[in-house]
Amino acid sequence: MGENSFCLDGKAAAVTGGAQGLGLAMAQALAQAGAKVALLDIDMEKCQAEAEKLQAEYGVEALALRADVRKLDEMEKAVAEVVERFGKLDIFVNNAGICRNIKAEEMTLEEWQEVIDINLTGVFIGSQVAGKRMIEQGGGSIINIASMSGSIVNVPQPQCSYNASKAGVIHLTKSLASEWAKYNIRVNAISPGYMKTAMTEKTLETDMAKDWWLRLTPMGRPGLPCELGGAVVYLASDASSFMTGADLIIDGGYTVW
Ligand SMILES: NC(=O)c1ccc[n+]([C@@H]2O[C@H](COP(=O)([O-])OP(=O)(O)OC[C@H]3O[C@@H](n4cnc5c(N)ncnc54)[C@H](O)[C@@H]3O)[C@@H](O)[C@H]2O)c1
Repeated sequence: MGENSFCLDGKAAAVTGGAQGLGLAMAQALAQAGAKVALLDIDMEKCQAEAEKLQAEYGVEALALRADVRKLDEMEKAVAEVVERFGKLDIFVNNAGICRNIKAEEMTLEEWQEVIDINLTGVFIGSQVAGKRMIEQGGGSIINIASMSGSIVNVPQPQCSYNASKAGVIHLTKSLASEWAKYNIRVNAISPGYMKTAMTEKTLETDMAKDWWLRLTPMGRPGLPCELGGAVVYLASDASSFMTGADLIIDGGYTVW
């Protein structure tokens, strides 16, 4: 292994849901380590502005591309554009996701399906589209953003579709790792605990979050998006060259209790 095995100089990366929150923070960490980065999102205004900032701040090429992770044709088009502009695709982060807090007995089939479509089928679509390119070019690293909710059930809020989707992402990660190791493609997951993003920001201010979420987190605080940077660079780089099918839980200790 080389001296700076964490270096991503010259690598080409793409991050779904990269316009804000954890996706953007991971894109920043990849750019800081030297990678060219494409942000794929449905919010093009934010996506474009953040891609420009990445380019200015880290001096790497950055792209903003519209792609809904539920749409195979949009994802194929976006990844083809990344390959055309960057010449290849080394790192693909399946990050886009949503959460709905609805009681199981009251959830409509449409509400269930929306979460599964984005969080689980979206990760399959992203992995398949990226995986095909990586098979052609001889390897790559796919990083799926699951959640501690794929291993435990959050309390007190009801979110069965989210929990099931994230458990699915963890097992899909292992399945793809098994199928694609022979192509030199590594597939790993990162499972965050409660992180401070638009998804959680308002709720984190409530007594409920203090009484449940933070009391049940040994470190007693939510994570910051930048605290996933080390993990994503590690999984994207040669530093993790013998790691595949793993699920890195980064949760301030939530899952130990
Ligand atoms: N915030 C947390 O506490 C937390 C904890 C564990 C896991 N996660 C996971 O991390 C990921 C990112 O979460 P976040 O907190 O940054 O969320 P966020 O809501 O701040 O950002 C999500 C991004 O995904 C984009 N997006 C939504 N639907 C999309 C679609 N169909 N196609 C493409 N892009 C789409 C949004 O436009 C947005 O830019 C999600 O998968 C989430 O489940 C978050």
